Amino acid sequence: MSDLVCNPLHDDFGASVTGIDLGSPLESAQVAAVKRAIDRFSFLVFPNQDMDDPRQLAFTRYLGEPEVEHVRFGQQGVVDYFGTIGNIDENGNQQGNDHAVTKYVRGNEMWHSDSSFRENPTYVTITCAYEVPDKGGTTEFVSGRAAYGRLAASEKAKLDPLATIHDYVFSRSKVAEVTASHAASLPPVEQRLVRTNPATGDKNLYLGSHAREVVGWSVEESRTLLDDLLERTTRPEDILSHRWRSGDLVIWDNRCLLHRGRPYDADRYRRRMRQTRVCGTGPTLEE
Ligand SMILES: [Fe+2]
Repeated sequence: MSDLVCNPLHDDFGASVTGIDLGSPLESAQVAAVKRAIDRFSFLVFPNQDMDDPRQLAFTRYLGEPEVEHVRFGQQGVVDYFGTIGNIDENGNQQGNDHAVTKYVRGNEMWHSDSSFRENPTYVTITCAYEVPDKGGTTEFVSGRAAYGRLAASEKAKLDPLATIHDYVFSRSKVAEVTASHAASLPPVEQRLVRTNPATGDKNLYLGSHAREVVGWSVEESRTLLDDLLERTTRPEDILSHRWRSGDLVIWDNRCLLHRGRPYDADRYRRRMRQTRVCGTGPTLEE
């Protein structure tokens, strides 16, 4: 039996969820209920969870295969399932605004879907918050499903068959240098512009900073379309802004949401969150 209680957070998507301890062993009915909530709400926050890395990895495996964190793999060949979000290194030391890592992660302040530049892009991202700033450092989300739903039928018909090229080097080079080995590990991939949730049949726009161009279109035509769609997906009223609290476990569905980090003063505040991701299915061209 599952006793999940989902309280909606925004007209389009998102829920705050209680009634489950995600750090404990879960029954299959509970896992199924979490997956149904992901399909329905796309963004889930579970407040006051008692987590650590082993519990987070165990929970991640309930939802599927953990994804190898691509930065350490691309730069150093190291297989690790965790990414650290924030400005605290593995020894607990704070990295300020001028630290190279702080600058590098500013790429996450552009709207994106995690690992859309991989042939098998991320299904869900799981983030556990341990230390959070008093000011700034929110994460914003928008729904590509709601954005698709707002389009006219004629525009949906035009967009449905299109494919786009997603390219990590294209997006990240705007804010930081990508090492040669890291770039070589992430060649550009093609993705559907309109994806379909296999469980519900719901369609959504699949956009973000890594989307470089439309397959078969000129760069100029591509940018006009992709920039216009992104603008119409990310209107202020479409945004769910999440202010992190210590103890939050957040799951977001990268198949249909875009997100971006918001700045905070890394000299003044400590921020430590641990992130895992679950592999999706791909290539999305076959959806
Ligand atoms: Fe992200």
